[in-house]
Amino acid sequence: MRSVIGKIHGSTSSFEFEFVVTNSKSVKRGDYIKVWNDKDGWVLGQVSEIIAVENPKLSDIYKVKEVLIAKARVIGKREFGKLKMPTSPFIPGDNVYTAEDNLVAETLGFVEEGVYIGLLGDTCVKVKLNPNTLVQKHVCILAKTGSGKSYTAGVIIEELLERNVPLLIIDPHGEYISMKKPGKIRSNEFGVEPRGYAEKIVVYAPPTSPFIDSADKELSLEGVELTAEELIELSGLKSPTAQALLYQALRNLKNYTIADIIEEVESIRHSGKWTLIGALSKIEKSGLFKQKPTDLRTLLVRGKASLIDLRGIEPAYQSLIVSRVISKLFELRKRGEVEPGMIVVEEAHNFAPEREKTVSSNVLRTVASEGRKFGLGLMVISQRPARVDKNVISQCNTQIILRVTNPNDLNAIKKGIEGITAEMVEEIKRLPTGSAIVVSPELEVPVVVRVRVRKSQHSEATSVLEEEKEAEMVEKTELEEKVEKEPEKKGILRRLFRGRKS
Ligand SMILES: Nc1ncnc2c1ncn2[C@@H]1O[C@H](COP(=O)(O)OP(=O)(O)OP(=O)(O)O)[C@@H](O)[C@H]1O
Ligand SMILES: [Mg+2]
Repeated sequence: MRSVIGKIHGSTSSFEFEFVVTNSKSVKRGDYIKVWNDKDGWVLGQVSEIIAVENPKLSDIYKVKEVLIAKARVIGKREFGKLKMPTSPFIPGDNVYTAEDNLVAETLGFVEEGVYIGLLGDTCVKVKLNPNTLVQKHVCILAKTGSGKSYTAGVIIEELLERNVPLLIIDPHGEYISMKKPGKIRSNEFGVEPRGYAEKIVVYAPPTSPFIDSADKELSLEGVELTAEELIELSGLKSPTAQALLYQALRNLKNYTIADIIEEVESIRHSGKWTLIGALSKIEKSGLFKQKPTDLRTLLVRGKASLIDLRGIEPAYQSLIVSRVISKLFELRKRGEVEPGMIVVEEAHNFAPEREKTVSSNVLRTVASEGRKFGLGLMVISQRPARVDKNVISQCNTQIILRVTNPNDLNAIKKGIEGITAEMVEEIKRLPTGSAIVVSPELEVPVVVRVRVRKSQHSEATSVLEEEKEAEMVEKTELEEKVEKEPEKKGILRRLFRGRKS
């Protein structure tokens, strides 16, 4: 039995209470505590705040020099697999103890054999999540750049690979390829050993990729029945005449290839057709579409992660690859031709943007809303939560949120995620790199997790950091414009931007 850390004080309820701290060294904000309740047994709580008060009477009663009052939120007790709140209030004067690790793990709903993502708060309690919920009910990982999104995604990928869950990784920066190699682990506080996953990861790249030589396999697609919208996006075709001619040509075709469309357009009597023919020929020559394309069934295989390396590929082609591959896998999954698995989408704001539409938007929305029925899960990762389609984010039952500071992104998190309190939003702004707030239906209450060290090697996406720097520059410029419009504040803000010309 651990020693007493405080005594319940003042009025209490079954949801919250306050206690006078009698052992100031062993109580911190966020600590898990337990209290005995005659009707319910041990009940778990968490310290939400500690305040120092001047109260000579309390100081005398509890023999403490400095009176610290801790506010505690009652979490409850687990009974028959469900979290229950106590039925009666706690008694003032009762002892408060530090909760043992196993009581915390059991009450919060961590699973013995679950996906190990890290340690709870400041404790040594391993946070393990139910793999079925994680995979089938979608996960999102949201945070500002450099806070540890890809690192955390890598931790979950390692855990899922060890359970042989089929994975498809959409990797715009080629940052998961390093997972083939073991990482370097400096301290062993998390109790994991280095390991690489070379035998489990298969890297695919489109034939036009500058990295095709380092890929394990080529990824090509069937160029059949590309829609007018897809062809327009791929070619960047702006001319309304050329677009109209494209629609006209497609009306007469069935089960067509790009060559068939070119032939059809050639037969049209209109001088504007040459722009269209040029654009279509460029797509045909891209080499992405082949008569014998990659069998997409091989992308979702038990025990393997297929990684699509999209470095150096134009955004429109990236979007088309994502759209075609995922919609095909969804169809195959519905027919039971591939096993249940998970699709990891990095830079999700590019593939499922909130405002404009890309060719991949619809399929990601569909998998987000219907994937779970057919055993196809999504892991959506983004550094700009505000720019990701809300319909996709709101379908993610497990949310892993690392540090976010941008007010628009914080707003998007508040709106899109159920159960996020104002207190948690403040916490999200201050999370250190590698710490996350995890919200999951299995957990009942959101928890702060120090994400465990990676077993495999992590490589950072430098180009993303560059993008974020650019975004910050734009935001600063907007602020400077505001300075121009608000002359009264000019003095202070001008000083802030002294180094930059306005
Ligand atoms: N759990 C962790 N333990 C140890 N180091 C971490 C952890 N999480 C992140 N880091 C460190 O922070 C760095 C940035 O992490 P990561 O590359 O995952 O950021 P990111 O959020 O994906 O950034 P970007 O938006 O640029 O892709 C890593 O290279 C690593 O050094
Ligand atoms: Mg990243």
